[in-house]
Amino acid sequence: MNIPLVELHCHIEGAATPAFIRACARRNKVTLPDDIFTPDGAYACDDFLHFLSVYVTACRAICTQEDYAELVYGYFINAAKKGLIYGEMFISADHPADVGLSYSDFLDAIAQGYAKAHEETGVEARFILTCIRNLGAEAAQKTAQLAHDFAHPLVTGFGMAGDENYGHPADFIRAFECARDAGLNLTVHAGEVCGPHSVRDCLNVLKPARIGHGVRAIDDPALVQRLADEGIVLEVCPGSNIALGVYDTYAQSPFMALRDAGVRVALGSDDPPYFHTDIANEYACVQQAFLLSDADMRAISRTGLEAAFCDEGTKAKLLSHFTQ
Ligand code: HPA
Ligand code: ZN
Repeated sequence: MNIPLVELHCHIEGAATPAFIRACARRNKVTLPDDIFTPDGAYACDDFLHFLSVYVTACRAICTQEDYAELVYGYFINAAKKGLIYGEMFISADHPADVGLSYSDFLDAIAQGYAKAHEETGVEARFILTCIRNLGAEAAQKTAQLAHDFAHPLVTGFGMAGDENYGHPADFIRAFECARDAGLNLTVHAGEVCGPHSVRDCLNVLKPARIGHGVRAIDDPALVQRLADEGIVLEVCPGSNIALGVYDTYAQSPFMALRDAGVRVALGSDDPPYFHTDIANEYACVQQAFLLSDADMRAISRTGLEAAFCDEGTKAKLLSHFTQ
């Protein structure tokens, strides 16, 4: 496959391999419980809530600026080797704060890791500051305030991840208004484990341009029509959905049904080592499952680029990959 890959949905700490987490734990002298790994060394994760808990525990090993710089560099170098031309990464202010790293030091570290990968491969990336829904509205507001106080050219979006069952999107209106005021583009995780109501509520009250996952919208034809009419982009991560038991196979993902209904769908790997995938594998599996041509895959990648949270100059430069 010779497709220029675009990825709109990947979490920074979720990009850390078990080997990287073990190495960080060793050098930072952090003791991790054995049960976050399976006997063969993979992450243990049975379902969504178990995944979130293993993720938060593994994050405790990532402590220093060097750790974050190495993580970002390693991710983008490997992805670029597999064809990534543009990637967006969710970053959390809460995990660095938990290990005593200031937000500005954290930003410097990820910018440094990315700059090195960009210099070596030309890969472009932007970062989406993300609040964690199950930490509540006040924590979300504090995160949004950081976006205001520490504007950074690489941080171009604000998002919300975490437990979709927690609270109501209306609880987070102030955080999202603050992020919007700071000029950030908005995306919200919804319709991953909860049904169409979750997506609808987010659209109604938080008004994001994109929805993280959103696949469960397929259960409500009126909502699918609304997504298509309003041009809302879904960041679909089929491998993540399969690993967490939302669908059994790539062919069962509503990715194609949504696309056929006129919804703008893009791809992401979410937390690739947790879900035994990477962005190149997501493109390949979608192509195989739905018998798509290379031209179809290029169009999907292009949808991602058109929906990217980056400046028009960068988009125009990257669009040249699709006209060669
Ligand atoms: N959903 C919710 N929270 C997350 C995810 C996800 O896919 N990945 C990391 N945090
Ligand atoms: Zn996600």
